[in-house]
Amino acid sequence: MPSTVLVGTQWGDEGKGKICDLIASEFDCVVRYQGGNNAGHTIVLGDKKYGLHQVPSGIMYPDCISVIGNGCVVNPAVLLEEIDMFEADGISTANLKVSGNAHIIMPYHIDLDGAFEELLGANNIGTTKRGIGPCYQDKMARIGLRMQDMLDEETFRARLDAALERVNPQLDRLFGLPTYTVDQICETYLPMAERLRPYICESSLLLNDLIDEGKKILFEGAQATLLDIDHGTYPFVTSSNCTAGGAVTGSGVGMKNIDRVLGIMKAYITRVGSGPMPTELDYETNEAGHTLTEVGHEYGVTTGRRRRCGWFDGPIARFSTRVNGLTDIALTKLDVLGEFDTIKVCVAYDCDGVRYTTVPEHMTAFANAVPVYEELPGWKCDISDCRTFDELPQNAKDYVAYIENLAGCKISFVSVGPDREQTIVRSWDK
Ligand code: GDP
Ligand code: IMO
Ligand code: MG
Repeated sequence: MPSTVLVGTQWGDEGKGKICDLIASEFDCVVRYQGGNNAGHTIVLGDKKYGLHQVPSGIMYPDCISVIGNGCVVNPAVLLEEIDMFEADGISTANLKVSGNAHIIMPYHIDLDGAFEELLGANNIGTTKRGIGPCYQDKMARIGLRMQDMLDEETFRARLDAALERVNPQLDRLFGLPTYTVDQICETYLPMAERLRPYICESSLLLNDLIDEGKKILFEGAQATLLDIDHGTYPFVTSSNCTAGGAVTGSGVGMKNIDRVLGIMKAYITRVGSGPMPTELDYETNEAGHTLTEVGHEYGVTTGRRRRCGWFDGPIARFSTRVNGLTDIALTKLDVLGEFDTIKVCVAYDCDGVRYTTVPEHMTAFANAVPVYEELPGWKCDISDCRTFDELPQNAKDYVAYIENLAGCKISFVSVGPDREQTIVRSWDK
């Protein structure tokens, strides 16, 4: 089978890292195409647990090439920390590649991320404060610095000087924050550039050469559909195209080479940060909300924040199937629902008297959406040891069928625990 895009279908943390690691062995290369170290993808192997921020989830397989594509933003210090962590654990990073066109997260991006959030006050986005938004902002403003610039001191200094002319007044006059000098940044960034030099490459060429050799590529999305800058719940989104289309621009691979889009979908829903969430359950006062958080261990990998939890949202599932062109779904964390007598599923929204079965384009309508629920019977048992669909209790099978119908796309994987092994494969051609 040819190349596949793996994409988050909700507000992130659906288990992309787990599923990506599960299927990466079938691919010759895994490429991240957007986002930076705002992502936190968990891989569990027995008693070992890895939280990956920048490195693609194919890294566990020594023969798999891992690429950080041009659509990503990279914090060099965090990337080096990750490389050191893997090498110390005996996991080789010899096959890791970073696009020379990926933009560099600078210290001032992190300062500005925090300052902009503070300025927004009660309307803040609840970013990860990793400098992601300001870095993409500079990319679009054409004053960003790229990985390739780090390899040539003269270029790096010149471009940095030009960037600081615009950045320093913001830091100083708008926020009263300390400014930066070229020398100050070069002192920390140039030594990191030397360590990263062997990893930096022309990744679009590399990927297309692999395709020409008949190799298969897995595109690993970060964040998720509703955090997409164009299709998400704007302004409460991240600053990149997380949807499947981003895989093409974020890697430099033509779309004719991609013919499968696997959406990762949690059996309920979570969100970190601000913004409307129609099916949200209150952690403090609603027992179901508390159960989902605690049983599902819904705490962020990147920031440690408690994730907001809610019942499965059908309109979001249908929306994701549409905007990503999903061909398959991996339904994750089904085991977490094992404690409930009944499980609610949102099948539509009532937005000021208008019924929607998908996400309304107008965010005012979405913000006022009142979920219309159906109740399904729970299965009240532990399914984390099930390895075939037939082994699942009937009510769990019915739940999967119900979600499949709501989402309008076939569910090819059912995940029943964090470990690679804890997965039911229903229909997936290797
Ligand atoms: P990602 O950002 O989409 O890769 O997801 P995260 O790693 O941030 O969050 C998913 C969490 O759920 C991690 O702690 C995973 O180890 C865990 N996980 C993944 N799949 C399952 C599953 O099927 N059941 C359970 N109980 N946990 C899972
Ligand atoms: P993974 O890949 C969940 C959210 C932040 C915030 C918004 C903007 O692990 O699913 P940013 O720092 O990107 O400017 O923050 O996006 N966010 C995520 N939420 N999972 C993620 O990544 C996220 N990356 C960003 O909480 O609401
Ligand atoms: Mg995550």
